[in-house]
Amino acid sequence: MTDMRVAVLGTGYVGLSTGICLAEIGHNVICIDIDERKINKLKERKSPIYEPGLEELLIKNSSTGRLTFTTSHPYALNHADIIIIAVGTPQSDNGRADLSFLEQAAKDLAEHIIRDSIVVVKSTVPVGTNEYLKQLLLGQLKNKVEIKMVSNPEFLRQGSAIQDTLKADRIIIGSDDAGASEKIQEMYRPLNVPFLLTDVRSAEMIKYASNAFLATKISFINGIANLCEAVGADVEDVANGMGYDKRIGSAFLKAGIGYGGSCFPKDVKALLHTSREKGVPFSLLEETIAINDHQQELLVGKAQKRLGELKGKKIAMLGLSFKPETDDMREAPSIKIARALTAAEAKVAAYDPVASGNARKVIGEIITYVDSALEAAKGADALFIVTEWEEFRQLEFEALLDVMKQRIIFDGRNCLDEAALQECGPIEYYPVGRPAVILRRDD
Ligand SMILES: NC(=O)c1ccc[n+]([C@@H]2O[C@H](COP(=O)([O-])OP(=O)(O)OC[C@H]3O[C@@H](n4cnc5c(N)ncnc54)[C@H](O)[C@@H]3O)[C@@H](O)[C@H]2O)c1
Repeated sequence: MTDMRVAVLGTGYVGLSTGICLAEIGHNVICIDIDERKINKLKERKSPIYEPGLEELLIKNSSTGRLTFTTSHPYALNHADIIIIAVGTPQSDNGRADLSFLEQAAKDLAEHIIRDSIVVVKSTVPVGTNEYLKQLLLGQLKNKVEIKMVSNPEFLRQGSAIQDTLKADRIIIGSDDAGASEKIQEMYRPLNVPFLLTDVRSAEMIKYASNAFLATKISFINGIANLCEAVGADVEDVANGMGYDKRIGSAFLKAGIGYGGSCFPKDVKALLHTSREKGVPFSLLEETIAINDHQQELLVGKAQKRLGELKGKKIAMLGLSFKPETDDMREAPSIKIARALTAAEAKVAAYDPVASGNARKVIGEIITYVDSALEAAKGADALFIVTEWEEFRQLEFEALLDVMKQRIIFDGRNCLDEAALQECGPIEYYPVGRPAVILRRDD
């Protein structure tokens, strides 16, 4: 394999991880972003996001010269013959994917591409978008060049983005051009990951189908969890028992306060929008969304039931990011919980190991941000576990409970060790999909 010259448009979670990993396997990569602050930080070899292992590879590959950063489209496109688009496709008001960043990216490419290129769309886009972008691009091309398109959706998970990229389960390559498909396979070959080759529309659909299925699995187990609470069963054992069945599998059967993040919520809604647009009903997706909305409010409802009116009560919230090992706050359940608690005039003190800065921008000053779990717990009537950071499993609960006003824990992620908690009893412990218990120290 010869090293290839690749430009990556957009240095968010996906673009940055992709660019860094492609440099790591020997390619010459230039990453472009319109966000000057991000690029300046990256030029200083500092990661603008919290992502385990990313900064080490950023430093390593920047120092070899194989990885560079710029805000200049002409400079970057002059360098590359493979261009990967990884800009955001957020949700617009009606649930549809907002393609404005992509449209702008296509315009930038049309203006500055100076040689025959393969344009790889890695952003998650509704079926038909690759064709639409190609028309947009071809219609505005400044130079006489040949453009081939490849759909290559991304499946990495925030919190393990680098590992997921280097050790992906599969790489989807959708293209109507055998030569372009072969070139992209060649680019990824050092990763030694299975390829699935398909047409462009199927590639686009694989991404939505995968995310909608995973989100549905989460909502399914949450539906079972709510039933378990009603009938006195234990959802953890139920999920375990189901997971042994190879046809079901144990992944994504964790009951809790629902999914969030930059992908599942918007991708399920975008797929539902497509189904409505095409007149093909898919009410299962509506239920997936409805169950998730309900789960996100679960802890507040439970607290109201236990504590009565929340006005003036103090709640300690542990965790703000939508999942552990990331500082990303997009669609994090903590947002809804914080707003519901403060609407009920509760006082909230929140602690997160890395996401408080981003949380301030989204939730604002309606809650207090503190620097430790212990500080959050001071004088609290209840403790909410909102994100399952490992740090929370390891907390000194003895000390924490001692500073609380009432020894009540609502564990929204079923992540605490009941046996260990018992040693710090008495505690009222409310997990999800399992009976609430009063944990007492053994006599
Ligand atoms: N985040 C994930 O876990 C994940 C996983 C799989 C797929 N995806 C998909 O990948 C895409 C990107 O997601 P993300 O989370 O990395 O987004 P992000 O918002 O973190 O990053 C997007 C970046 O693109 C930049 N940008 C916008 N327009 C640009 C332009 N014209 N030229 C250059 N840069 C531009 C923005 O400044 C931003 O830095 C989305 O479609 C998303 O659905 C995300």
